[in-house]
Amino acid sequence: MAKTMKTTEQTEVSEAQIAVHWKEEAYLQPSEKFKAQANMRDPHVFDRFGLDKFPDCFREYADMLTWFEPYHTVLDTSDAPFWKWFAGGKINASYNCVDRQLAKYANKAAFIFVPEPEAERDVVITYQELHDRVNELAALLRGLGLKAGDRVTFHMPMVPELPITMLACARLGIIHSQVFGGFSGQACGSRIQDSGSRVLITMDSYWRNGTLVDHKANADIAVRAAKELGQDVDKVLVWQRYPGKYSAKTPMISGRDFFVNDLLRDHKGKKVDPVPLPSEAPLFLMYSSGTTGKPKGAQHSIGGYLSYVTATSKWILDIRPEDVYWCMADIGWITGHSYIVYGPLANAATSVLYEGVPTFPDAGRPWRVAERLGVNIFHTAPTAIRMLRKLGPQEPRKYKYRFKSMTTVGEPIEPEAWRWYYDEVGKREAVITDTWWMTETGGFLGTTVPAIHAMKPGSCGPAAPGIHPVIYDETGAEVAKGSGKAGNICIRNPWPGIMQTIWGDRDRYVKTYFAKYNKNPRSKDWRDWPFLCGDGAVQAADGYYRILGRIDDVINVAGHRLGTKEIESACLTVSEVAEAAVVPVQDEIKGRVPEVYIAVKPGVQASQDIIDRVIKANEEVIGKIARPKHVYIVPDMPKTRSGKIMRRVLAAISNRRDVGDVTTLANPDVVEQIRAMVQGKETQTTQEALPEDIAKFGQVE
Ligand code: WTA
Repeated sequence: MAKTMKTTEQTEVSEAQIAVHWKEEAYLQPSEKFKAQANMRDPHVFDRFGLDKFPDCFREYADMLTWFEPYHTVLDTSDAPFWKWFAGGKINASYNCVDRQLAKYANKAAFIFVPEPEAERDVVITYQELHDRVNELAALLRGLGLKAGDRVTFHMPMVPELPITMLACARLGIIHSQVFGGFSGQACGSRIQDSGSRVLITMDSYWRNGTLVDHKANADIAVRAAKELGQDVDKVLVWQRYPGKYSAKTPMISGRDFFVNDLLRDHKGKKVDPVPLPSEAPLFLMYSSGTTGKPKGAQHSIGGYLSYVTATSKWILDIRPEDVYWCMADIGWITGHSYIVYGPLANAATSVLYEGVPTFPDAGRPWRVAERLGVNIFHTAPTAIRMLRKLGPQEPRKYKYRFKSMTTVGEPIEPEAWRWYYDEVGKREAVITDTWWMTETGGFLGTTVPAIHAMKPGSCGPAAPGIHPVIYDETGAEVAKGSGKAGNICIRNPWPGIMQTIWGDRDRYVKTYFAKYNKNPRSKDWRDWPFLCGDGAVQAADGYYRILGRIDDVINVAGHRLGTKEIESACLTVSEVAEAAVVPVQDEIKGRVPEVYIAVKPGVQASQDIIDRVIKANEEVIGKIARPKHVYIVPDMPKTRSGKIMRRVLAAISNRRDVGDVTTLANPDVVEQIRAMVQGKETQTTQEALPEDIAKFGQVE
């Protein structure tokens, strides 16, 4: 028995050399019951969306929306690769998500807000009430002089006031930029500066893991940080978690800070006509991390983006107005924008909005909520699945909810976690779609269409209709499916949900997403502009993709993208630190967590105090999610002769792997010292191959 196991292990190691140490999994089929009711069950959809039908096939998506004026051109490529979808059309996202639902669904819940404290009641917001509140807030914003094209930054928690504020901006064409509530005030400040916002909208407090957090404090830090960077904020609008009552200790600043609920008194019952806006006008910015230290503002359009998230919510999430849909993501990330707010509302869904931590006060919480509210579509990330499984593997059995479909998003999911999700959470009844995509793409890229394709644990599936992926190697040659080789996954064609540009930085947009495989920078033909997604992937013989993780030194912590350079610059704000290097470490729950190596300046003594301040710096500059698992003060960084820090060697040490040949380094001796410091005197390495994203870590220049 022991022998057989050993053989398997060895086979896995040799397979790993070609990046496929994950064995092929068996398929699972969607149930007949699910198929019979699904929104999209016609396999010919893939013929309709073939590359030969591109771009006209996407008219079907635009037709799901209500236009004030029809578009004249499906895809305008005249400024390639800055695509214009549905050019000439006039549209409004707030109208499509709210007003047009009133005829049939005025009294149906648009949102059900579930506060974190279990004793607090749910708040149901019908489409009619959503309409009224969005209008009043739009009147308020207009009264402040805000208009189409202005940017407004939000730093809001998971409360209904967040989508209300988004939709009020969308009604006027104000470009919203929501910064994840868990990010620090400083991180918010730099995003305010980049977007050029003069108004910050926030909330006084929110519940997180049993604590009422003073969130207003972050607004003061954000405004100060923005000012230091050269951007003045004139007004801070503060929502109250408990209307009429201030629940933060931080004082309001007279003349700058205003309670939204006070200002709203002057706008009771007001109506604001939704502004007909060009299809290609920006709807929002969403900042995300990449290779450099500066987060980039992914700019999404109204017509293209909204049509893409509407269609994919309908066909992939399988949402209908009578469903109760719950996506546990945070609206501060792209998943929440696309698949809590815009896509579901455009489909007249009832969308559940949960304020807090999934495991608060215990691992049964999500299933209690699902049972009580009759949730039948559930959407979450692998990190939450791993956590709920670890803390309460049997909990789902105790509750009588029934899901018809479930989604996973944000990170690769291991087949073992997938199976628990399927067996226990989905009770072997719900289909699972593993949706692979990113901030830049607006909506799903790699996924199954749940009533059409079989599921394969650990693989996202083929691709959404109209998405034509291709894997290229470093030389630009196509990697054949079934070859077992990994490469850089790209999309051959544009699609309506793709970002329009990086806010204020056209060159960076072209360089980051297209330069690698574009052969003719002057071409106006979309075929010359494959989109580089930023992930490594392998395609199995059956056409299913398995995503291996980022290729650009981004660490995906619990499904949150953190830039290596951002963490390193945070460490360098501690004055004693001379050099910092961060590496991803495998983690049972969060997928990856950052570990930090620092070298201190000459004459400085290593101390716990420096370590503590490095941790604190990460929390202050980025947020608690960037907290390093360990900080090691090393005598020197392993370096090449040209002085480049070898992050790959540090990643091997942190992940308990063999460091390989280090004799060519400038200072090979330091490697053993660091290894002993991290792993202890005894060598504790494992032979198991490193996941692709870690193995390749630190190669980007
Ligand atoms: C990763 C989140 C494997 C991937 C929507 C991508 C995934 C990054 C999956 C984008 C998935 C997302 N399987 N990996 N189903 N979904 N990723 O911008 O590395 O926050 O590039 O968007 O998450 O993260 P972002």
